[in-house]
Amino acid sequence: MNAKEKLDLTKLPKHVAVIMDGNGRWAKRRGLPRSAGHSAGAKTLQDTTEYLNKMGVRYLTVYAFSTENWKRPKAEIDALMGLLLEYLKDSERRLSAKNIVIKIIGDKTKLSQEIQKQIIKTEAMTQNNSGLTLLIALNYGSRDEILQGVRKIAQDVKSGKLAVEDIDEQCISDVLYTKGVPDPELIIRPSGEYRLSNYLLWQAAYSEFWFDNICWPDFSRKYLLQAIEDYQKRNRRFGGV
Ligand code: FPP
Repeated sequence: MNAKEKLDLTKLPKHVAVIMDGNGRWAKRRGLPRSAGHSAGAKTLQDTTEYLNKMGVRYLTVYAFSTENWKRPKAEIDALMGLLLEYLKDSERRLSAKNIVIKIIGDKTKLSQEIQKQIIKTEAMTQNNSGLTLLIALNYGSRDEILQGVRKIAQDVKSGKLAVEDIDEQCISDVLYTKGVPDPELIIRPSGEYRLSNYLLWQAAYSEFWFDNICWPDFSRKYLLQAIEDYQKRNRRFGGV
């Protein structure tokens, strides 16, 4: 029996989120520049997206650039932004043909004009597709996301659009970038790090976590299947018994 046959397709997570970690270490071990690790990571992302789409998973959210990543050397930031731009351009052609919807979450105002324009184009080109939605977190930080949301709610209260007593969990979900997207049931972090790093803090309230030492560029279909299979064995109680 191969790994895919062990999966229960009726119990797939609707939403998988990934922290694509370990690109730098992967490159260093091979004597390559860090940017080579990010390029290899982009290939893994492409394959992961196509495989999850084929399986029937509805949403994949990936952490591509955090609000803290601006602290990295300029050369690495430039390489990452260049890669993202190429990825978005290429996605229009490649992922669109595979029926995938692409959305960018995060504070786009700090991205270059060229990237912002490409985001609008790629999102528009893929918006009517009906397969998996790939959410790329770009200049994303969960605390920043919540902070912007709190400001929005406060404005609505101030202007009389919303009563304080009417603020509920749904109100908060609705002011986040992930509005309308179900919370991720499974969050995958490779490369041996065991933290959330300011990623989907609100959305991860009941997520199952899957960690492994493998670096993201080496995260092949075998690991993806293993993560989903492990998820299917978990007993999710949501605080009940
Ligand atoms: C973390 O690994 C990874 C990133 C900060 C960037 C992730 C980006 C990609 C995989 C590029 C492709 C994405 C798209 C959407 C084209 P790290 O560099 O911190 O690795 P390290 O901890 O080993 O140094």
